[in-house]
Amino acid sequence: MLSGKKVLLAVSGSIAAYKAAFFVRLLVKEGAHVKVVMSESSKDFITPLTLSTLSKNPVYSDFYNKDTGEWENHVELGLWADVMVVAPASANTLAKMANGLCDNLLLATYLSAKCPVYFAPAMDLDMHAHPATTQNIQKLQSFGNKLIAATSGELASGLEGQGRMAEPEDILKLLQGHFAKGQHLVDKKILITSGPTHEAIDAVRFIGNNSSGKMGYHLAMQCAKRGATVQFISGPVSKYPDHPNVFIHKVNSAIEMHDEVKKHFQNVDVSIFTAAVADYRPSEVSDKKLKRNGTPLKIELVENPDIAAEMGKIKRGNQINVGFALETHDAEENAEAKLRKKNFDLIVLNSLQDVGAGFSHDTNKITLISKDNKPQNFELKTKQEVASDILDVIDNHLK
Ligand code: CTP
Repeated sequence: MLSGKKVLLAVSGSIAAYKAAFFVRLLVKEGAHVKVVMSESSKDFITPLTLSTLSKNPVYSDFYNKDTGEWENHVELGLWADVMVVAPASANTLAKMANGLCDNLLLATYLSAKCPVYFAPAMDLDMHAHPATTQNIQKLQSFGNKLIAATSGELASGLEGQGRMAEPEDILKLLQGHFAKGQHLVDKKILITSGPTHEAIDAVRFIGNNSSGKMGYHLAMQCAKRGATVQFISGPVSKYPDHPNVFIHKVNSAIEMHDEVKKHFQNVDVSIFTAAVADYRPSEVSDKKLKRNGTPLKIELVENPDIAAEMGKIKRGNQINVGFALETHDAEENAEAKLRKKNFDLIVLNSLQDVGAGFSHDTNKITLISKDNKPQNFELKTKQEVASDILDVIDNHLK
């Protein structure tokens, strides 16, 4: 996705400047053309020689190039880039960017740039928490600049808290999303339910199912790579998506999943219900482990809420709800009935009559049925490819 893209990296004076070397290396490996502009104080943390060697381009920092006797054209540099990334963005550089100050080449380039600008703050805990910094960050966001939030952890000063620059790998993933082909998913908010639910019987036992959560995993990763933000609400699974655009909410039971979905549903553009939610739960849960006593054990089950159906009732006209249907017979008729009953815009049908489809496989064979189009059949593919097909169709709906 980054091949041939022109990335202008602006490095300001923060200890996190050392991460710029890793970031440039990753960008070049992905095939991007990279130019670097540095503030004077960033050179105390990393040398221009390191960054010019890795980027395979001269590094810019002065308005006047003493070697060639030429004026460095910041306007040209700003216009050259497809994207500008200020990483690290120190408290000082943030403040100057927010206020339009222009006392070095980095800031002049920022003010001249016509491309999207990302900025990744990096500073000590108290500087980051100061209301002045908060205001500067908000101001930059209000200009349309995109924040790559500082993460929490151990800081160079020894303090613990928010202020670490995002990792180069994570910034790379955000840029991949930025340049992703499915442009309509960029900046969209997506909710995904995934995995099984566990319905407790007693302190140690539950009723569950075999859902691996693989479909939800691949959908979440690909939504994030295409630039969307994902609220990922998942029952217990062995592998969770790992991407800065994916926010994970772990739940156990259908009731917990329902509560979590209700918190996010109103704020999302698209909801994809991949979870295999248990339709019933035990009416009573023993807080002790049940003992056998030589007689049959009867467990009364009560109905769980139908999460997708409830969200279908409160869906706004511009929201898209996507459901899944796993059918064993009369597959298309049953799926179409489910689409109408739960007010889905699109339903993904898995027929268990198809070899290689269903819960436990790495492959899936799907038919997509939308409210207004006739069913679309797909070949047997990997779940990753299936996720991509589903997102292409959702992307089309978002047009
Ligand atoms: N679903 C849900 N909450 C439930 C049950 C299902 O959100 N309590 C969602 C699933 O995530 C899926 C869709 O609804 O997207 C269809 O689920 P399915 O279990 O096939 O439908 P049911 O209504 O339970 O029908 P069936 O009688 O076939 O089990």
